[in-house]
Amino acid sequence: MISKVATGVARTVGAARARVTEWRSERQRVALVPTLGALHDGHRALIEHARRQADRVVVSVFVNPKQFGPGEDFGAYPRPESEDLDLLRASGVDLLFAPPLEVMYPDGFATTVSVGGPLTTTLEGAHRPGHFDGVATVVSKLFIQIAPDLALFGEKDWQQLQVIKQLVRDLELPLEILTVPTVRDGEGLALSSRNAYLTPEQLAIARKLNRVLQDVASKAAKGDVLGARGNASSQLREAGFDSVDYVEIADAETMQPAPVAEGRALRVLAAARIGGTRLIDNFPVEPPT
Ligand code: PAF
Repeated sequence: MISKVATGVARTVGAARARVTEWRSERQRVALVPTLGALHDGHRALIEHARRQADRVVVSVFVNPKQFGPGEDFGAYPRPESEDLDLLRASGVDLLFAPPLEVMYPDGFATTVSVGGPLTTTLEGAHRPGHFDGVATVVSKLFIQIAPDLALFGEKDWQQLQVIKQLVRDLELPLEILTVPTVRDGEGLALSSRNAYLTPEQLAIARKLNRVLQDVASKAAKGDVLGARGNASSQLREAGFDSVDYVEIADAETMQPAPVAEGRALRVLAAARIGGTRLIDNFPVEPPT
């Protein structure tokens, strides 16, 4: 049987802060799991990890317009708030912070937080101009609003994770960033709220993304980095993807495309489209065991 806890709901910064201040005055550790909502098992894994690391868990749900470009799916992005609340209750979350747009970005809001350098201009940054500014701005606000001891992010958005780590380092924000491995379905498809857009036929194609990337990663791990990257796009198109934004083998931290300095960890990262749905995924390039 699923035991449900009383998950509070805060729609204003004042209400969220009041709860967090109370917990912190009792020396309880507070974790934040920022999300766009439409919660699934990937979010559940973040929450479970947060519960092991902290006394209290806050989940934010905010579909952040600043990280969606023109023509992207901001309007269509699923917003199933009552199902989300059920999942949060069943997962033992203490507080849902779900601010309306005008609370997050009141009239006259004029500040952008921007992480500079190749980390934000390559790969996702090149294909979604302004996306990482939107992420850095909203995540900075959430960190200031909630003042958590730790915040958790999934490895599925690998480049986003590196951007957030850089932001926290550069601004010396007083919190710890924890990461949780990508949660996949039985066929290896990375869970994503956007998978809900796929028809059954498209889902079958989507499930090939992880296989192609694992194949690329294993070829690269055997030393043929350039050859592995060279074939990757055509492998994805042969698998049924309509277009490929990028498949890259890059420094896992700086996102600089390979070849990179000796001894640096590499990561295979890709974004590809089926119909109107854009999927991303990534895998480490690990030396063969
Ligand atoms: O990864 C996401 O869900 C979003 O980019 C985040 C970190 C919640 C910021 O809106």
